[in-house]
Amino acid sequence: MASATDTDRVHLRRAIELAERGRGRVRSNPLVGAVVARDGEVLGEGWHERFGGPHAEVNAIAACAGGDLTGATLYVSLEPCCHEGKTPPCTDAILQAGIGRVVIASDDPTEKASGRGLGILRDEGVEIVIADDGLEGMARMLNQPFRKHARTGRPWVLLKLAMSLDGKVATQAGDSQWISGEESRMRAHRWRADLDAVIVGVGTAMADDPELTARPEGAPVTSEQQPRRVVFDSLARLSTTSRLVASAGEVPLTVVVSRAAARADTDALQAAGAQVLVATGENEPARVCSAVDQLGAMGITSALLEGGPRLAGAFLDAGEIDEVRLFLAPILLGGRTARDPLEGQGVELIADAQRALSFDWERVGDDLLISARLREW
Ligand SMILES: NC(=O)c1ccc[n+]([C@@H]2O[C@H](COP(=O)([O-])OP(=O)(O)OC[C@H]3O[C@@H](n4cnc5c(N)ncnc54)[C@H](OP(=O)(O)O)[C@@H]3O)[C@@H](O)[C@H]2O)c1
Repeated sequence: MASATDTDRVHLRRAIELAERGRGRVRSNPLVGAVVARDGEVLGEGWHERFGGPHAEVNAIAACAGGDLTGATLYVSLEPCCHEGKTPPCTDAILQAGIGRVVIASDDPTEKASGRGLGILRDEGVEIVIADDGLEGMARMLNQPFRKHARTGRPWVLLKLAMSLDGKVATQAGDSQWISGEESRMRAHRWRADLDAVIVGVGTAMADDPELTARPEGAPVTSEQQPRRVVFDSLARLSTTSRLVASAGEVPLTVVVSRAAARADTDALQAAGAQVLVATGENEPARVCSAVDQLGAMGITSALLEGGPRLAGAFLDAGEIDEVRLFLAPILLGGRTARDPLEGQGVELIADAQRALSFDWERVGDDLLISARLREW
């Protein structure tokens, strides 16, 4: 197979940049960007702009305004689809436009894709080029939630923590509002808006009475765009007067209970508008696995896990944390019983520790934001 040229790399990099523009708007769909070019000249650009809307390839071809595309190359950050979904197959649009060469940055791991689109194009005489490692890696990073969900059926999980300089996430009295600064909290609201769900344990729901909606500064989020709120609450203790339940009519709320929950309590939550899921399993990590399987089957591809320490520890033990973003704040809490960020079983040996694949930091207001990617999909 032919390899990508330097010109190909320039256009493909641009396609990856364009894909970013869909962030927060395409939800469970992948972020995809596309460029149509000939002899180094860009004829059209496009990206997947909104969930259910035309795909990037179709938008890039439409941006060429019906011009002759003979001899043009299509650059696309993800393998083109060949199935009829909410929109017609992109392979059809590419063939109808007369495009003779397609350069892609990354594969699509969903069962209905996985090379099928490329096979159809090749059979029709279209030359296919696949990018080298660097660009492929960048394109894969764009779509970690989509990729994990396609490969495992479970959502990609981002653990967010706000921690004091002495490694605590709440005082000995259980107060944690607020450890991180205003700018950090705004950043977290953006993440909520970008992901499909926000998850907390009932301990946090009862201690903080949060609403868990996305309220990013300067960019109002409609109720349809709000992430689903999910509370892990084995015994259905969440009060029907809590802010979470009170807003269940406007923003979806799921309560994950165990078989031990009393029927009267789950009925009351359902009557108030919450969805109730029953997680099965003998212990907390097993019930995390059962719940994330069910959330994935509902089409949730990504979730922001906002704690607290006990639920986050169970997710770690279950192997279900994909990335950690930790705000380290310049305050000291002290106190022997002040809370550590992660509980659960943990590991006995350092050799068994989960080691980050990548580790970065940046300053956000007065805090440090430390990001660690644990898995790559
Ligand atoms: N600084 C931060 O970033 C941050 C973030 C969040 C919270 N916090 C603080 O953390 C404290 C609350 O944390 P927490 O550890 O007490 O509570 P939590 O982790 O929010 O909730 C734990 C509870 O969730 C329930 N649960 C249901 N299914 C579970 C499962 N599979 N695995 C584990 N737990 C499950 C359990 O209660 P049942 O057995 O009754 O179901 C468990 O006691 C508060 O003080 C809050 O302010 C700080």
